[in-house]
Parts: sequence; structure tokens; C-alpha cells
Amino acid sequence: DWTPDSFVEETVEAIQNKVGNDKVVLGLSGGVDSTVAAVLLNKAIGKNLYCIFVNNGLLRKNEFESVLNQYEGMGLNVKGVDASDRFLDALKGVEDPEKKRKAIGNAFIEVFDDEAHKLEDVKWLAQGTIYPDVIESVSATGGPSATIKSHHNVGGLPDFMKLKIVEPLRAIFKDEVRRVGATLGIDPELLGRHPFPGPGLGIRILGDITAEKVRMLQEVDYIFIKGLKDWGLYDKVWQAGAMLLPVNSVGVMGDERTYEKCVALRAVESTDGMTADWVNLPYEFLQKTSNDIINKVKGVNRVVYDISSKPPATIEWE
Ligand code: XMP
Repeated sequence: DWTPDSFVEETVEAIQNKVGNDKVVLGLSGGVDSTVAAVLLNKAIGKNLYCIFVNNGLLRKNEFESVLNQYEGMGLNVKGVDASDRFLDALKGVEDPEKKRKAIGNAFIEVFDDEAHKLEDVKWLAQGTIYPDVIESVSATGGPSATIKSHHNVGGLPDFMKLKIVEPLRAIFKDEVRRVGATLGIDPELLGRHPFPGPGLGIRILGDITAEKVRMLQEVDYIFIKGLKDWGLYDKVWQAGAMLLPVNSVGVMGDERTYEKCVALRAVESTDGMTADWVNLPYEFLQKTSNDIINKVKGVNRVVYDISSKPPATIEWE
């Protein structure tokens, strides 16, 4: 019978047999899968695991600093790399959603490759791939693996991708990953985090991306997500976030006319992201959140709530 404890025991032994005394590099994202994979590997091989956590400048507000602290507190051998400017540069003037994904994916590969080169004698690349990712990469539906594939065709394989691969979560599902994480003593709040796309806020800022737009959306998103937590709604929602629309609309402040940005809030229920329903959030919550956003975030004068289900609408707007 499958239990998280027996999984941990068997997997730790399997990792030790597989990699021996070799060094392993792993990219942490702040998400559940890469975190659980890292803690498992850390248990198996300790300091031979080198984790790299890249700030692409498109994370949630304060996320890079707070998650990096959390990783260090968990005893992981982790290096935080703030590459925000490099990503922003790569994204300058890019408006097309797929081109943005490609720019972000390629910048990540470059940064990660640079960092991996600084480590000597690394033999293995560890990844937090879970079973549904294995199936998806076969059906090639896009996402990070597709980004890496398109990079191959252009510039050849980056060196870190020539490493041998170790994927301790390859055979299990998300709910099992969470149970394994709990057994390993990982903070329940981290394990209960909503999914967040690899390209981050980059695909929630419609159209071109600037540092100022990122700042604005980070503030909006922070108010929305903190509100969901304060109102006890966060765990009832599968995924939530805000989109910065490429639209200005007229507003009024005092006796001044304003002409500022509009943001859309989105919260969905889902089991796997393939289909999703919008969540019937309480009007009182939406009212408070909208007021907070408009009062506190400079440059935003209008908030709308997305009431579209998937299909036909996707969860992200890009
Ligand atoms: P959509 O928008 O296709 O999203 O309904 C389904 C789920 O996938 C996430 N998503 C991505 N994740 N890279 C990722 O790592 C991407 O390019 C990407 N696009 C969408 C989305 O957040 C949702 O959970």
C-alpha cells in the first residue's frame, strides 16, 4: 500500500543508489513540486544538492526574499539569483503571449546555465516533474517543456541539459506530492499554495511589460491574495490572481478626471487546471477588495471580476 512514509523511505534509498556521491543541481521555483523534490533530495544527499532559485522579476510581491528565507530555514543548500533586469530587458517591447513565454523561457535557461557552470563537477539535474507533467510532455500542450524544446531548435542544447536527470516525483500525483511534503515537515502554508505559472506576472500583464506595470500588478495581486487569506477564502479557491489590462478608462478623483488602468481579478475552482469554474466570491469581499485596490494602488482606477469558465475561456488571459 502507498503511504507517504514508505514513499520517502524508498525514494531516499533510490536516490542514494542512483547518484552516489555525485553533485546534483536543481532549480527551485517556490512551488510545491520543486520544493518537495528538493527536500527529498536534501534528505538523501545533503550538501551535494545545489539549489538555484531565480528571481525573474515577475514573481509576486516580496516572494523572492520571503521564499528564499524559507528555503534557507529548511536547511537547503540554495543560492538566490536576482536576474530581474535580465528578464525585463529580454521582454522589452514584446507583446505577443507566446513570444513572451519564449523570451522568459530562454532568459531562464541562460541564467540557470550560467549558474550551473559556476558549480564544479555537477553530474545530475534534478527536476520536480510529477506524473501529469510526464503525460503532458507526451501530448505536447505547451508550458515550460515546450519552451525548452523550441530553444533546442535555435541554439542547441544548453550544457545543464546534457546532465543526467533525476526526477523523484515522476510517478506521483499532486495530492500525493502534498502528502509527501507534509511527512517531510514542510510548512503546510507552502504546501497549500495556489499554482502559479512559470512566466509569472509576465502573462498577466497584457501587452508589453515594464517595471512600473510589474510594480502595479504586484500591489494589486498582493491586496487580492492577502484579502482571500484574511477572509478564509484562500483554501476554497484553486487558483487566483489579477490581470493588468492594456486599457485606460476614465475615472474621477475629487474634482479631477483620471484616465488610468483597469485590472481584472480572477479566482477559479478546478482539479487539474484543464477545466475551471469561476468562484462565486462574496460581494462584500469583492467590494472591500475593489476599494482597497483603487485607494492604494496608484495608476489603477477600475476593477472588474472575471466571470468566465474554462472552456472556452482559459485561466490566464494570455
Ligand atoms: P490556462 O490559462 O491554459 O492555464 O487555462 C492552465 C494552468 O496552467 C498555468 N499556465 C502555465 N504554467 N507556464 C506554466 O508553467 C505557462 O506558460 C503557463 N500558462 C498557463 C495556469 O496558471 C493554470 O494553472
